[in-house]
Amino acid sequence: MIEVKSLTRKYGDLTVLHDVSLKIERGEFVAVTGPSGSGKSTLMGLLAGLDRPTGGQVFLDHEEITSLTEEDLSRVRGQKVGFVFQNFLLVQTLTALENVMLPAEIMGRADAKEKAEELLTRVGLAERMHHYPAQLSGGEMQRVAIARAFVNYPPILFADEPTGNLDSLNGDRIVELLLDLNQTYESTLVLITHNPELAGLSDREFRLRDGKVVQVVAHRRGLRGKASSPNGRSGSRRPVQKRGTRSGSGVRK
Ligand SMILES: Nc1ncnc2c1ncn2[C@@H]1O[C@H](COP(=O)(O)OP(=O)(O)OP(=O)(O)O)[C@@H](O)[C@H]1O
Ligand SMILES: [Mg+2]
Repeated sequence: MIEVKSLTRKYGDLTVLHDVSLKIERGEFVAVTGPSGSGKSTLMGLLAGLDRPTGGQVFLDHEEITSLTEEDLSRVRGQKVGFVFQNFLLVQTLTALENVMLPAEIMGRADAKEKAEELLTRVGLAERMHHYPAQLSGGEMQRVAIARAFVNYPPILFADEPTGNLDSLNGDRIVELLLDLNQTYESTLVLITHNPELAGLSDREFRLRDGKVVQVVAHRRGLRGKASSPNGRSGSRRPVQKRGTRSGSGVRK
């Protein structure tokens, strides 16, 4: 699903990502951890096609994205990628509903409103759809951002510390939601976190230090009831959108 070869990102003389190579399987949940400044957000920006590397290649679904034009890149992002940023990046002049609809409208989907309503209901905001971001709490804004990230059913979801500045209850809700939506839609989930417990829920954890992946930990807690291997999860991904029967899903809560 995601493959990275010898990825390097420099800012002038400063190398913030050194020759990183990795592979993330379809449907896998990967946590990216490491000290502040180790290059996590930089790596994610490159994987998501939001930034361009100084060297190396990124393949999303076998398509090499680093050499694409801006136009092709935004098409790929629209089709394949959803993001949850730490600061939400909601449009202040649009309601919760309109914020969630936006990416679907950009893709020209006729069911944008219906889908947005469904997702907002799913994240517990049925009663807040017509609120503007300024009229929502932090946790509510975060849930809107997550609903928005899912509105196009992205095959890949990137989340940069989605629980970073939430209380533990709201943090737990967001995590539950991310994992649940990840399971329901079988999106590949790449999550940056400083929380070891959360990282422990992933299939694999990539630990970064000074711009390098210094360790890959296969977590065997088996939320999906499966063991992971360092080379990626084995087994096929079922081509269904709704599942709800995956064994062990309740363990995540
Ligand atoms: N535009 C930029 N110009 C110069 N240096 C940058 C730029 N963006 C990031 N850096 C540097 O790259 C390094 C990695 O940054 P990055 O944001 O990837 O860290 P991080 O691992 O996400 O950290 P945190 O946990 O604090 O979010 C940092 O030392 C940062 O100062
Ligand atoms: Mg960061």
